[in-house]
Parts: sequence; C-alpha cells; structure tokens
Amino acid sequence: MIEVQHLTKRYGRVTAVDDVSFRVERGEILGFLGPNGAGKTTTMRILTGYMPASDGRAMVAGLDIFDKPIEAKRRIGYLPEAPPLYPDMTVREYVDFVARIKGVPSKERKDRVDTVMKRTHVADMADRHCAKLSKGYKQRVGLAQALIHNPDVLILDEPTAGLDPKQIIETRDLIRSLAGDHTIILSTHILPEVSQTCQRVVIINQGRVVAVDTPENLIARLKGAETMFVQVDAGGADVLPVLGAIPGVLGIVASDQRGVVGGFEVESERGTDIRRQLARTIVDRGWGLLELRPMRMSLEEVFLQVTTEERPDEPTNPAETITPAMVEPVPGVDSHE
Ligand SMILES: Nc1ncnc2c1ncn2[C@@H]1O[C@H](COP(=O)(O)OP(=O)(O)OP(=O)(O)O)[C@@H](O)[C@H]1O
Ligand SMILES: [Mg+2]
Repeated sequence: MIEVQHLTKRYGRVTAVDDVSFRVERGEILGFLGPNGAGKTTTMRILTGYMPASDGRAMVAGLDIFDKPIEAKRRIGYLPEAPPLYPDMTVREYVDFVARIKGVPSKERKDRVDTVMKRTHVADMADRHCAKLSKGYKQRVGLAQALIHNPDVLILDEPTAGLDPKQIIETRDLIRSLAGDHTIILSTHILPEVSQTCQRVVIINQGRVVAVDTPENLIARLKGAETMFVQVDAGGADVLPVLGAIPGVLGIVASDQRGVVGGFEVESERGTDIRRQLARTIVDRGWGLLELRPMRMSLEEVFLQVTTEERPDEPTNPAETITPAMVEPVPGVDSHE
C-alpha cells in the first residue's frame, strides 16, 4: 500500500533522510520510531506530497506521489506535527471546510462531519473557535481533518503529542480501530506507543533505517542471550554453584537477597530453554521455588541499542551490534513496477 524506495532528502549540507526504504502492507499500522531530528517528519512530508525528495521515490496506493500528486493525496489523510487549523473558524466550520475541499459529496457531508467529530471526541467543542482550543483539542481536530474523507492511508505525525493520559488511550484505541480498513504510519518517540499500537516498527536514526521488524522480534533478535529470573528459598544453602552447573547456563548474578530467599538472574545460551532443568534442580534439592520467569529486554533498551552510535575505534561486542542480517530485507525495494 505504501512503498518507499531509496528516499533521500538533503537540506543544503544536512542529509535529513538518507536512503530510506520500507513498505507498509494494506491494513497495517507501522510505527515510525526515532529520536528527535531522526527524519520522521521529513519522511512523512515527502510521503504526503508536501515536499519533494532529493532522491528516491514514494508510492501510495500504487500511485507515485511525485508523478500523480493529486490522485495520491486524495487517498491520504495527513496529521502534520502542527495541525493546520484556521483560527477564525469554529471546529465544525473547519471540519466541514476540509470535507468540502477533500471532495466529500454534499449529501453525505453533514453526517460525515458529525461522525468524525464524535469519533475524535471534539463534538463538545464544535462551536468553539479553533484559536481558542487547548493543545490537546487542536490535536484532536487535526486528527478529525485527516479522517474526514475516509482515506485509505493515514499518515500521523506524533498523533498523541500534547494529549492527556485518558485521551492518549482513546486515540490509540481509535487508531487501532482504523487499522484493517486503513493503512497507517504513525511517528512517535514514545516506546509504549509502538508496542501497544503498531504491528511493525521502522526505527530510524540520523536519517537512516536501523531496524525493521515487529516489536516482539526486535526485542528477541537483539538479545544476545536469554535471561531467567528465579527466586529460591534454599534455607541458607549456596545456590550459585548448583545453578551454575546446569548445562547451557552462561552466568548467574545474585540480585535481591532477603534472608534465606534469594533472587538470581540466570543467563543461558540463546535458543536453549533451561526452565525445566532449573526447576528440577531446585526442587530436587528440597528448596522452595518461589518464582521463575523470563526477563525480557524492553523495547526501550532495544531502541537505545540501535540508536546509540558506537565510536568506530571502540571494540564492539558482536551480540550488541546490529548487523544487516538482523534488519529485515525490504521486499520489492529494487523492483520498479
Ligand atoms: N526546513 C529545514 N531546513 C533545514 N534542515 C531541516 C529542515 N527541516 C528539518 N531539518 C533537519 O532535518 C533533520 C530531520 O528533521 P525531522 O523534523 O524530520 O526529524 P524528526 O524525526 O521529525 O524529529 P522530531 O522527533 O524532533 O519531530 C534534522 O536534523 C533537522 O534539523
Ligand atoms: Mg518530527
């Protein structure tokens, strides 16, 4: 549905977007994640036809955004970083105005405006002037104008920025409910947003794609080893050497010790499941097994790992380095249909 091929954008000497390629399938929600200045907004502006690229191309719904900008834009709803509101219009007038310019048929227009205002929770401010809206409400009206013509593709630049916690949840629910019928790209630098809303993530840093995958796979793939947390009541016995002798265990760290109860982080080779063996060893000794759970690397750690630049003169741990093999190849990037 959306295909970005070798997109590059230079502002003078600054390369804001550097050879970026990815695809979004129909009905999918793609998270566009990156730190400040990574190139998210620039990519979105190019994708929505608001700015030309220096190189590469972008296809939306099979249409090249540069060759067929009018047709392509008709299929896109765009929520820019700063929602483009007209201060002198009321919310209803503004949403109705956008409906008109987006070509919503006049017979359907009133219904459509009402439905969208309700869906984005702005109906209670329908008669308020846009200039007098709070930041969160401006954001919601921005979302309303993006949805008004029921576009196939939604490009949302930080859709939850400036919203209160309740609104964030409602907006995420709204976005999730739009998937399936709509193809969505949303940008964020808020990690929970990505794991809660998106099926796939593109992580971008300094204009370059550094990882493309599902949030779960990113967490799993970037982890060099598996770590289990066990809590054991060994009645004062020495637990470390016993667990350390289990085949596949690479190392143990005692964390949290409270009297005879100790917590241990047991690291094992990737792909070896040592849980049964751990449990059996502890129970066979007559110790109490109080807790056994995998410790997952958070998406936050993954994000920091792939966006923190390593100095070239520093020796790197291969388990901590993202290699091209870890980044999903982008299908069809080289095809020119
Ligand atoms: N009009 C412009 N002229 C010159 N440089 C620009 C312009 N717009 C953006 N840049 C630069 O391009 C880079 C990418 O900016 P962009 O706004 O795309 O980042 P972003 O990922 O959206 O960041 P944020 O999370 O802060 O919104 C930055 O280095 C920025 O300074
Ligand atoms: Mg931005």
